[in-house]
Amino acid sequence: MTVGHGTGILSAGENAPIGVFDSGIGGLSILRALQAELPNGNLIYISDAGHAPYGERNSAHVLARSRALAAHLIGQGVQALVVACNTATAAAIDALRAEYPDLPIVGVEPALKPAALLSRTRRVGVMATRSTLASERFVRLHQGLVSQAEFILQPCDGLADAIERGIESDDASEIIANCARHVGAMGQFGVKAGEMDTLVLGCTHYPFASEHLRALLGPQVQLVDTGAPVARQTRMRLGPSRQQTGARAATETGRLQLCTTGQTGPLQAAVKRWLQLDCDVDKLNV
Ligand code: DGL
Repeated sequence: MTVGHGTGILSAGENAPIGVFDSGIGGLSILRALQAELPNGNLIYISDAGHAPYGERNSAHVLARSRALAAHLIGQGVQALVVACNTATAAAIDALRAEYPDLPIVGVEPALKPAALLSRTRRVGVMATRSTLASERFVRLHQGLVSQAEFILQPCDGLADAIERGIESDDASEIIANCARHVGAMGQFGVKAGEMDTLVLGCTHYPFASEHLRALLGPQVQLVDTGAPVARQTRMRLGPSRQQTGARAATETGRLQLCTTGQTGPLQAAVKRWLQLDCDVDKLNV
């Protein structure tokens, strides 16, 4: 993957970039899957760290931010938009789809259905933001699946923020303390009858805490996130002629542009740690 920066349009038509946004660095868990699925696709990623966290703010704030970021990305000529945030998907995806009916727009939802299918004990823990769990969209999803499994819902106040703050240091103690508090509040995990054998990571930040969750839960509990299915869905939505983002040679890697409305350091550090890329980050005023 080539790393670009600057604020110009990357390219047009079939090679136009895919726009991806999240409240912060969490959406990199989706971006990583997109890079694997579309290795020669051009990508623009926005971290809205200047207006985060989304999960403990009201839905009007998240809707307004999602509209502003979508409009900016569309101004950059994107051919598709990925809302790489469960909270923003819950608050804004219906409005964005209505406002841009011709643009493929892919969102992220907590993976309740796959988790219900995987669970043998039929008890599934769900970690997500307070705002996602309170949304109409999530309530509908949950109601539709209550006959398949019992879902134990945990609003994880503070965890996404701790992951943001922890990325520039080697000190994971705040992340570990948040994971322990939330996992402890959910009840017993394990593979025996009555225990939760599956945990849904319903916020795109949480896969980056999975080593700490795994240490708390043990090796038998299954962690379920949505990066790979969202990336597959994005490729399908590009249509047959654009699924490889144009006619460039398959060996050519796509270009990545990174932007943030907050401090550049955390996004730069996260991309280095999680995507193994050294790159510049543009400061964005949107
Ligand atoms: N990464 C976001 C999500 O998937 C939310 C984090 C936040 O609270 O800003 O829900």
